Amino acid sequence: MRITIVGCGVIGSKLAIAADAMDDVKRIYLVDIKKGKAEALEKKLNKAIVVNSVEEELYHCDLVIEAASQEAAREIMSKSVGRGVDIMVMSVGALVDDEFRDLMFERARNNGCRIYIPSGAVCGTDGLRAAHVDELESVELITTKGPKSLAHIAFFEEKGIDVDKIEEKTIVYTGTAREAVALFPKNVNVAATVSLLGIGFDKTVVKVVLDPKAKSNHHELRLKGAFGEMACNTFNVPSPDNPKTSHLASLSAISALKRIVRNEWIGI
Ligand SMILES: NC(=O)c1ccc[n+]([C@@H]2O[C@H](COP(=O)([O-])OP(=O)(O)OC[C@H]3O[C@@H](n4cnc5c(N)ncnc54)[C@H](O)[C@@H]3O)[C@@H](O)[C@H]2O)c1
Repeated sequence: MRITIVGCGVIGSKLAIAADAMDDVKRIYLVDIKKGKAEALEKKLNKAIVVNSVEEELYHCDLVIEAASQEAAREIMSKSVGRGVDIMVMSVGALVDDEFRDLMFERARNNGCRIYIPSGAVCGTDGLRAAHVDELESVELITTKGPKSLAHIAFFEEKGIDVDKIEEKTIVYTGTAREAVALFPKNVNVAATVSLLGIGFDKTVVKVVLDPKAKSNHHELRLKGAFGEMACNTFNVPSPDNPKTSHLASLSAISALKRIVRNEWIGI
């Protein structure tokens, strides 16, 4: 298998190092808008080549992996899916736009390729996927963050909430996932993944909790439905190189690639 990794930051680098050790991965093409980043990563790998753009090797590539930004995801998804090449998307926020998402999934179906979206920084997506087959009464995502992660958010400034003055664990926002992804862009990927798998952006409820003592992000996914009830907690460890990205997000990308490469679908 030949893969192209777009974005050689935290997730892209960890994924490239893991892919380099996979026997079934024969070639890794690396793309980054900061060329120095791709070149530095290439030096650590045996199977990698830096390319200028995803198009350069698209005809020789079996899977494109986006680990860059929402903007990059939109552009690369259109190109890969347009040419019938499988794509794994980490910047899931790119799929919040209903029209764009429908177009991409329709094109992928017509062109016989797949769009893979790893579970990312949240656990419990397996249960959500299965539960959604029958009636699902409610899906709630409760995200707890420290004041630093919630600083400079226009919503709080407009409401006159000073996040540094909150002394106790407090629910500072409750609303739909659609509204939450617009108000809290840093939380977009997890809320988008949960919404896409379950009851959608307008029915999924997002709560944001500010905990002055929180050192990292905590996501609680709560479901109620015909299957029963589920509550799944993820206490994330931030990546040392980019505290905004939970370490689990990189691991989920690596585990997704392993499944694709080995064609093993346990616990799907
Ligand atoms: N699905 C999830 O749960 C989840 C969790 C964490 C992060 N993410 C998302 O994954 C993406 C990557 O995260 P990260 O922590 O590795 O980020 P990062 O900032 O460490 O790395 C991103 C890299 O992409 C490069 N880049 C940006 N735009 C590009 C473009 N148009 N073309 C090529 N390269 C480009 C940057 O130069 C950088 O090297 C982000 O969009 C982030 O929001 C998703």
